[in-house]
Amino acid sequence: MDHFTYRDGILHAEDVPLPAIAEAVGTPAYVYSTATLTRHFRVFEDALAGLDHLICYSVKANSNLAVLRLLGSLGAGMDVVSGGEYRRARAAGIPGERIVFSGVGKTRDEMALALRDGIRQFNVESEPELLALSETASALGLTAPIALRVNPDVDARTHVKIATGKSENKFGIPLARARAVYAEAAALPGIAVVGVDVHIGSQLTDLAPFEAAFTRVADLVRDLRADGHAIARVDLGGGLGIPYRRANEAPPLPFDYGEVIRRTVGPLGCEIEIEPGRLIAGNAGLLLTRVIWLKHGEGRDFLIVDAAMNDLVRPAMYDAWHDIVPVAEPAPGAEMPLVDVVGPVCETGDTFARGRPLPPLGEGDLVAFRSAGAYGAVMASEYNSRPLVPEVLVNGDHFDVVRARPSFDEMLKRDSIPSWIPEIP
Ligand code: LLP
Repeated sequence: MDHFTYRDGILHAEDVPLPAIAEAVGTPAYVYSTATLTRHFRVFEDALAGLDHLICYSVKANSNLAVLRLLGSLGAGMDVVSGGEYRRARAAGIPGERIVFSGVGKTRDEMALALRDGIRQFNVESEPELLALSETASALGLTAPIALRVNPDVDARTHVKIATGKSENKFGIPLARARAVYAEAAALPGIAVVGVDVHIGSQLTDLAPFEAAFTRVADLVRDLRADGHAIARVDLGGGLGIPYRRANEAPPLPFDYGEVIRRTVGPLGCEIEIEPGRLIAGNAGLLLTRVIWLKHGEGRDFLIVDAAMNDLVRPAMYDAWHDIVPVAEPAPGAEMPLVDVVGPVCETGDTFARGRPLPPLGEGDLVAFRSAGAYGAVMASEYNSRPLVPEVLVNGDHFDVVRARPSFDEMLKRDSIPSWIPEIP
């Protein structure tokens, strides 16, 4: 459930009509709902109720400081994958003891930053990383709490670009090597083994791969304890999928995901960490855009909108589906001609949808791309020198701009022309 609904024929975010936001901020703009973010976080809390747990929101899904502060205020920890995300989490006020640091390529500088400023756990993905972390922590006179991310060789049955749990993927340490690497970790200075970590992929629409992976993790924890390691935590990663096509998709519910966790790793008595991103933020946001005009093509019509692949890259990058809805509610039984919805960027890949049924729309009409709260703004670029899209957070009947659209002057000021290049005659 989310809080984007039609009222009196106009799409609202909570109690705010979207045309009011378009008027104030311009388009395109991302619009997030506080009530939906809150609800999705609480759904996970409920799913894990009674288990010792920490929900470490995956910052990569939507890293706006306001979103991080909101989730942090509800009790969330954070999962970060770069020094930049670590800084964002800290700037939002998240204490270091609630931040886990994942990623296959942490640099020594990033390790030192998190060690100095406070970290709950590093999820270590390779032996070279383990050695570098040991050296970095020792040089600072500090100890790095670690979990090893294991690769359980489980097929997540999701898009190939976001599956991470197969042995051919770059992620994690093969299960077969895990006991040896734990033994190595336990002997290293500056390292304290605290847990086991796994993450098999994103947008999973089936619980079976989770069950298979978590079962392997539970078996490993028992083996590691038998080897003498004090394993107090398991981090189960993120990945639970969301409905992108509201009409015909019903991915598993967090409650059932929680049952899988209880069944598999529950009996270990470990503190459980999960790293959901998409499920919390995805359907808590939409991308609001305005029709530039309708272009009649050869045998098809193109609805050209002012958002483009640089603002929301998922359709171009993963052939992802986003529901596209007009802000003015179509009358029941209204004619729904098929259109291709495209942006202004000079690539055929700048296509959001082909042959979508939409009511007749023209210049100036507003349209929303649903399910754009996760992996939307964070993946935006300035391709075609289009300014980064602004972000708005709605709360009840008011809204705040939580990231302003940069001015063209600000964009130009970042470049500089070396003096050896002559003036244009
Ligand atoms: N933990 C780790 C270690 C991850 O790599 C990820 C996502 C998550 C947690 C959060 O997964 P989630 O709950 O959001 O599925 N840009 C792609 C998605 C990339 C996901 C990368 N890792 C997309 O737009 O579909």
